[in-house]
Amino acid sequence: MSVSVHDHARPLPHRVFNFSAGPAALPEDVVREAREDLWSIFGTGIGVLEHSHRGPVIDRVLGDAIQDCRRLAGVGETHEVLFLPAGATLQFAMIPMNFLPADGVADYLDTGVWAHKSIEEAKRLGSVNVAFDGRPSHYDHLPSDAELALSPSAAYLSYCSNNTVFATQFEAPPRTNAPLVCDASSDMFSRPLDFDRHAFVYASAQKNLGPAGITLVIVRKDFLEAARPAMKERLPSMLDYRAHATAGSRLNTPPTFGMYLIGRVLHWILAQGGVPEMLRRAQARSTLLYEAIDTSGGFYRGLAKKESRSLMNVSFRTPSTDLDDRFVTEAAEAGLDGLRGHRDAGGLRASIYNACPVAGAAELALFMREFARQNG
Ligand SMILES: Cc1ncc(COP(=O)(O)O)c(C=O)c1O
Repeated sequence: MSVSVHDHARPLPHRVFNFSAGPAALPEDVVREAREDLWSIFGTGIGVLEHSHRGPVIDRVLGDAIQDCRRLAGVGETHEVLFLPAGATLQFAMIPMNFLPADGVADYLDTGVWAHKSIEEAKRLGSVNVAFDGRPSHYDHLPSDAELALSPSAAYLSYCSNNTVFATQFEAPPRTNAPLVCDASSDMFSRPLDFDRHAFVYASAQKNLGPAGITLVIVRKDFLEAARPAMKERLPSMLDYRAHATAGSRLNTPPTFGMYLIGRVLHWILAQGGVPEMLRRAQARSTLLYEAIDTSGGFYRGLAKKESRSLMNVSFRTPSTDLDDRFVTEAAEAGLDGLRGHRDAGGLRASIYNACPVAGAAELALFMREFARQNG
């Protein structure tokens, strides 16, 4: 097959509304732009994937991404912005490796599947206090501050702001005197977050920010510099946040395309009106879906208690697993894809991240109402 230079100008093929939990829908404007830049970026005649990670093009791509990230987070030179290879799961191990001293303890909140995995990793490396255990209640709610059994001098408190699987979301960060570490993988830049109150925030990109396999880290420099890791002398450089910071996220050949795509998504968020506009859309999307659940006369049951509901993931069930299956199949036929629940929770889940159009949620809500009418 011959390839024409004009091929990249073809309109994108038919796309459907994608409610996948991650990798997830990207803003269409960004996908179109990336398609152009794969061919040639900044008029260089070389595609973004083909430029040296130490050349001026990637300097600019990375510089712009960091600048836009700082604008969105409202942070200046007090914080490092890092783009790290591999997903959030690697941070589950790197955080205790870097911030948990041999004689210290870290507080963790077990509020869902991913928070639990972060605890399992930390336990391999140091002393962990599980300050809240959500397993007995099937992760259906988040703790109030009064429910937290905090240790008196934790090196940090780690929590997950949005629990992607059971679809719960903290309304405000937990109250603690310890430095706050937050896994914001599934709600980064979808609502305001106080980055000055957090010592370390991380998000794997494949939900709200870009492609899988890269993680955005925003860390306060004073926290990074004061760290007394148990493994300090033996920490391999690729697992050392300070080494990544010193190297400006280019310790090795980094995932340059991921950096580029995150940069374009951050730029898109700013152009749309920034985090306040992302929040407005998130509220509009989630209201549509929760109303469809709450007015279904019990046909749909949400997994999360109302007071802990997420604006980013909506997990629910129909009266039977057979109907859940039929829902997934018929929704896909109607152009609504990616609605099967996580393997640990079952049921159904709609992930409605920043790039999901409000119109997509409206169409799904209509489908839900019609499906309940026909099968209820
Ligand atoms: C909240 C949260 N944390 C961490 C992860 C793991 O991310 P990764 O697969 O990029 O390691 C996920 C993935 O879905 C997630 O939802």
